[in-house]
Amino acid sequence: MTAKILKINPKKIGHARLRPVADAIRKGKLVIFPTETIYGIGANALDAKAVRGIYRAKGRPSKNPLIVHVDSMRMAKEMGDIPKKYESRIAKAWPGAVTFVVKVRKIVPRVVTGGLETVAIRMPEDRLTRELVSMSGVPIAAPSANMHGRPSPTSARHVIGDFKSKVAFIVDAGRSKYGVESTIVDLSTFTLLRPGAFPVEDIERIFKMRLNVPEQARGTRDSRKALSPGMKYKHYAPSTPLFLFTGKPDTIGRLVKGIDANIAFLGSSETCMRIGGRMITIPLGSRSDLREIAHNLFDRLRFLDSLGVDFVIAESFSEKGMGLAVMNRLRRASQHLEFRTRKGLLDLKRLSQL
Ligand code: TXA
Ligand code: MG
Repeated sequence: MTAKILKINPKKIGHARLRPVADAIRKGKLVIFPTETIYGIGANALDAKAVRGIYRAKGRPSKNPLIVHVDSMRMAKEMGDIPKKYESRIAKAWPGAVTFVVKVRKIVPRVVTGGLETVAIRMPEDRLTRELVSMSGVPIAAPSANMHGRPSPTSARHVIGDFKSKVAFIVDAGRSKYGVESTIVDLSTFTLLRPGAFPVEDIERIFKMRLNVPEQARGTRDSRKALSPGMKYKHYAPSTPLFLFTGKPDTIGRLVKGIDANIAFLGSSETCMRIGGRMITIPLGSRSDLREIAHNLFDRLRFLDSLGVDFVIAESFSEKGMGLAVMNRLRRASQHLEFRTRKGLLDLKRLSQL
C-alpha cells in the first residue's frame, strides 16, 4: 500500500476531497490526519481490528491506550460516561485541545483503552478534524502519528517516511496550530495526566476548580534514579543525546568553554543570539512567547538529528501557560539528563560515553 497524499487548505475544506478519506476510515483503513495539536494516525474507534492496526503501525505497546476523537457532545456521551456535574464546563472547553478521561461505555472495544475501564475523549478545535469525524460517521481513535518513542509530528513531512506504506491516506493541511499534544485531565479525580496545548490556567478558570498537578505530569523524576544506567524509558527523544540545562541561560556559554565535543544548543532566540560561536544554535522563538516555543519544539527536535553533533543542550523555560507542556516534553526528551553546573555537564558527557 502507498498512501495517497491529499493537500487540503484548512480555510477551504473541500468536502468532496475529504470523502474518500472518510470512506477509508469507515472501511477499517488507517489514515493520517491533521489536528490543531499535532498529526494523528487514526481508525474507526468502533472497529477493533482496524484499531489493532494502529498499534502495529506505530510499534506501540498494546497497554498504552488511544484517544477517541468525537464531533459532538452526543458522540462523546456514547463513548463514555460524561459526569453530569461537569457537562456544561466540558462544553465550554470543547471544541478544544483538551482530552477528558472518563468511565468507558461498552460500545468501545477494549483494544482502544488498552484494557482500562476508562476512555480518553476529545473534541478537537480543528474544524477539519471534526469534519472528518462527522463525514466518517464514527468516532476516530488516534494517537500521535510518530513511531513509538519519537517526537510527535507537526507537519505531513514528519510522517511520510515512517508511514507512507502503512496507511491509506495522509491528509496534509500544513503546520499544526499548537505543535504540542492535547492536555489530558482525569475527571474522576480532576487530575492533570499530561500538560498540553490547553493551559492548566484556562481549565481552572472554566471549571472554577483547582486542578491536581502531580510531579509526574510536569515530567520530573528523581534525578538519582534518572541517571542510573538502567534508564530505558524513552519519549519524544531525538537520536542525539539531549541534556537539559536548568541554570541561568546567561551562564551557558561559559559552562561549555573548552569542552571537547560538537555541541548544538536548542533554546530561546535571545539566548541563541547571546552565545553564538562555540555551539550550533537552534532557536525555538522568543522566551516571552511560550506558544511559539511550543509550536516549534517537535520540529526542531527532529531537525537536530540531521546535524551530526555529539550532543544537544536545551534551555529550560517558565512553566506558566504553554510552558508546562514545553518543560514536560523537554524533560522527557532529555530522558531526565539535567545539569546546572560545568561539573554536571562533564558527568553527563561521561555517562553518555561521548
Ligand atoms: O493532541 C492529541 O492528544 C493527539 C491528537 C492526535 O489528538 N493525540 C495524542 O495521542 O497525543 P497519544 O496516543 O500520542 O497520547 C495519548 C495519551 C497517551 O499517553 C495515553 O497513555 C493517554 O493519552 N491515555 C489514553 N487513554 C487513557 C486513559 N483511559 N487513561 C489514562 N490515560 C490515557
Ligand atoms: Mg504520542
